[in-house]
Amino acid sequence: MKNDQNEKYPIVEMIGITKQFPGVLANDTVDLELFSGEVLALLGENGAGKSTLMNILAGLYRADKGKILIKGEEAEINSPKDAMKYGIGMVHQNFKLVPTMSVAENVVLGLDSENFVLDLQKVSSRIKEISNHYNLKVDPGSIIWQMSVGEQQRVEILKLIYRGAEVLILDEPTAVLTPQESGELNRIVKQMTGEGKSAIFITHKMDEVMEFSDWVRVLQKGKLVSVVRTQDTSPKELSRMMVGRDVLFRVEKKKANPGEVVLELENVKAMNDKGLEALKGISFSLRRGEILGIAGVAGNGQRELTEVITGLHKVTEGRVIIGGKDMTNKSPLEVIKSGVSHIPSDRVAMGIVGDMSVANNLAMKEYRKAPLTQHGILNPGRILEMAKKMISSFMISTPAPYTSVKFLSGGNIQKTILAREIGACSTLLVAAYPARGLDVGATESVRKEMIAERDGGKGVLLVSEDLEELMSVSDRIAVMNEGRIMGIVDSAEADIESLGLMMAGVPMEKGK
Ligand SMILES: Nc1ncnc2c1ncn2[C@@H]1O[C@H](COP(=O)(O)OP(=O)(O)O)[C@@H](O)[C@H]1O
Ligand SMILES: [Mg+2]
Repeated sequence: MKNDQNEKYPIVEMIGITKQFPGVLANDTVDLELFSGEVLALLGENGAGKSTLMNILAGLYRADKGKILIKGEEAEINSPKDAMKYGIGMVHQNFKLVPTMSVAENVVLGLDSENFVLDLQKVSSRIKEISNHYNLKVDPGSIIWQMSVGEQQRVEILKLIYRGAEVLILDEPTAVLTPQESGELNRIVKQMTGEGKSAIFITHKMDEVMEFSDWVRVLQKGKLVSVVRTQDTSPKELSRMMVGRDVLFRVEKKKANPGEVVLELENVKAMNDKGLEALKGISFSLRRGEILGIAGVAGNGQRELTEVITGLHKVTEGRVIIGGKDMTNKSPLEVIKSGVSHIPSDRVAMGIVGDMSVANNLAMKEYRKAPLTQHGILNPGRILEMAKKMISSFMISTPAPYTSVKFLSGGNIQKTILAREIGACSTLLVAAYPARGLDVGATESVRKEMIAERDGGKGVLLVSEDLEELMSVSDRIAVMNEGRIMGIVDSAEADIESLGLMMAGVPMEKGK
């Protein structure tokens, strides 16, 4: 059934939603309205309460106060199953698929057994139907762990459509995707809303908000601060609504003053986890006081590159020299001891210990040194003191230094890792997508922080997919494609078009 343009009706209304967590008022009498066939963008800085509000709508959390109306009728939503009865489904910031199971198994997992006979054949053919209808390119027999992040996300969406979702909640869905995958996702959402379904979209990317939403709601510290029609606003205005001040999209920096070589790669080769050659002879050097950007679509060897430097991945050929010392295939601990810090791309798995407090996560790299340890004994007072300083200088929003990291919002987990790594760095900072998933204000401070590290005489290797970021932050840019460097250019002379060509595998013209 096609909806008439004039017949849009509020499919979801949330009224006066309030949710208190220990020490934080995550939602403070928030109102929300979503119309059929429309996309609502939900914006706000990290920790503003966006995920909490959506978790309430999706039945994961219960509001302390307020009510939810679905198609005008008050709804009791106490579990994701209840939410699904009302046609509401959510794709979470961290996916909830079972890695060792197939797509089809994941799709039916948790469905009431009385409604479903385990007929994977039938399930598979329905999955194929949905997949074809939305051009999702999902094979029901594939095993989840073998799929890329973008594919896994399409499985999550497919699962919700299979279960009859009319309202799709997407919590920062494009934060982990390549530009191509994001485009694909946005196309799918457009098709769904064209068919009368609706979506709530949490994102930090202003261009996506402008292109794909009909309405925007902005949260600040748990409160709803603005409601605007997308056509009546601009990225600049939205950023101001979120942060409460003007945001610089371009960072200020002085000319680089490069010193001695701090990192040198000589014809480095390495395999990936699937046994294929991921690095096919990488050579470059990086000096102190310089930021070298690594551009490229994720999956072209960037991960392996950062890992061979930080000791997490073995080199099969070639040499890695750090601060003049041969560090090829040395252990991560030895690399850390040589003053190297690492902001990994998979932060939840590699960057933190969720059950440990913010303070202890921050101190993790300093444990072995004075003043946190004296005569082999930890000094909790010193750790707390240091943690407090880092929490305030990196604006980490946490109820207390001893709160478990797993209770923080994604952006604040990221700030915790940044604070620790930047704080511990003395020679080289290897940063993989440091601003990914961060709000505009935090992105600005991360970029400034990297430039400050550079100006403090450290070498910075910055891996990013954001060409604007690379061009404004780094001094030189190397472009990777299929495990090779296609060219290295001066940022001042770089343009998006030629970088894009190199990202697609066209080598830099010689003598240009
Ligand atoms: N399960 C939880 N327990 C305690 N505090 C939480 C929990 N979930 C979120 N919070 C806190 O609530 C606030 C809002 O978080 P969240 O909704 O995740 O923000 P956003 O999604 O806008 O980044 C944050 O301060 C966060 O630390
Ligand atoms: Mg969130």
